[in-house]
Amino acid sequence: MSRQKSHLQKAREVLPGGVNSSTRFNRALNSPFYVARGRGSRVWDLDGNEYIDMSCAHGAGLLGNAHPLIDDALLLASKLGYVNSLETEYHEELARKVCSLIPCAERVRFCSAGSEATLHLIRACRAFTRRDKIIRIEGHFHGYHELIYIGGHPPQSEFPGNRESPFIESPGIPQVFADLIIPVPFNDREALEQVIRQHGDEAAVLILEPVNFNCACIKPEPGYLEFVRKITEEKGILLFFDEIQSSFKKNPGGAQEDFGIVPDVCTIGKALGGGLPLSAFCGKAEIMDIYQPVGPVQHSGTFNAHLVPVLTGLAFLNEISKPYFYATLSALESQFHRGMDGMIQDLDLNVVVPHYGSRFNILLGRKTPAVKYEDTFCHQNQLFLKVLRACWEKGAYFHDYGGGPLHHGYSIQHSAEDVDEVLNILEDVFREFREELVIQ
Ligand SMILES: Cc1ncc(COP(=O)(O)O)c(C=O)c1O
Repeated sequence: MSRQKSHLQKAREVLPGGVNSSTRFNRALNSPFYVARGRGSRVWDLDGNEYIDMSCAHGAGLLGNAHPLIDDALLLASKLGYVNSLETEYHEELARKVCSLIPCAERVRFCSAGSEATLHLIRACRAFTRRDKIIRIEGHFHGYHELIYIGGHPPQSEFPGNRESPFIESPGIPQVFADLIIPVPFNDREALEQVIRQHGDEAAVLILEPVNFNCACIKPEPGYLEFVRKITEEKGILLFFDEIQSSFKKNPGGAQEDFGIVPDVCTIGKALGGGLPLSAFCGKAEIMDIYQPVGPVQHSGTFNAHLVPVLTGLAFLNEISKPYFYATLSALESQFHRGMDGMIQDLDLNVVVPHYGSRFNILLGRKTPAVKYEDTFCHQNQLFLKVLRACWEKGAYFHDYGGGPLHHGYSIQHSAEDVDEVLNILEDVFREFREELVIQ
């Protein structure tokens, strides 16, 4: 028996499902992907097999595995004694750097996970506006907590009832939280206008992913973000860009810099810690200063802004500020998508691979990108699981999100040769499943 399989049996005895994050159970492999180590663009499983890493820690691994600058930061942390739960000069330096890069950031607070960041920032938005309701967009994702794991990804059978009775995405979340959620379709100005007409006075915040990596990489249509900015401003609703995923993937300033629309507040994360757990929430000073000890809102935690990720975060932000960084990622993006577009056209596949910066999504069942959540119901989850498994068997690890059209990507340590290798693997796999992939 492979060590991969025997480890699953052992891990299940002490960890529910053998994992520490439910989505780490990879349905394509019918097992979690247990790895022994990673280096650069590669990871090795427990049996010594090598894979090109096309997950990159769900986007947190933009520097790739074992980047030398992160090793240096870890060494510095050890010299400083890993002091924790105390502020250092490095914290201010990191905060200043974030404020210089992210357009809406006049103040910032650091925490570990993206879910924590959205939770704490929603609290501030509610306190600031003295309103409770949250307008959110279908298909977007903002973390797994009670405040917002509602109404984002209803199954097709619950759709479009989701708009009257928002779908609770996990048992255990009480109905009272759903009563505060107002889901609207992406890229639909009329629907948003109507919701704001009806509920505008009760809504504290409109939260959205400016690029919807958590569903087919759907982008805002021209003018949509401008419209959203204007209508929220008029109604006193705070505009919240959740850039946990979109930050740093294409440029240092996030999608808000790229699209030229400045929200009131935002979250950033994943890549920020250079591979270590670091997220942040930022915004205008008048909103962020609502946190204690300036204002009345609580945000505290023993491990908030631990020195180790603060130092790796500084190393990360210094590195991305060098001119080579985004030029290299952009060259990889062009190479990969030239290859994918050619392959899809040659094989006449019903597949589209929308992308933004270093990440891309694979959506089956369409030849054109989706514009809103329900456009992705054509995606064939079971077929996609077979595609992902076949890629893994040939040496490319793409994470599985239940077969859904979520995101994959590469790091700064991926090379042009890695991209060619992945393209060859994908071409072999797409040829193998071609008959199923061309069916309407
Ligand atoms: C847009 C967005 N917000 C929030 C989160 C939650 O972040 P974390 O997994 O670090 O809790 C994610 C994670 O995928 C995300 O993509």
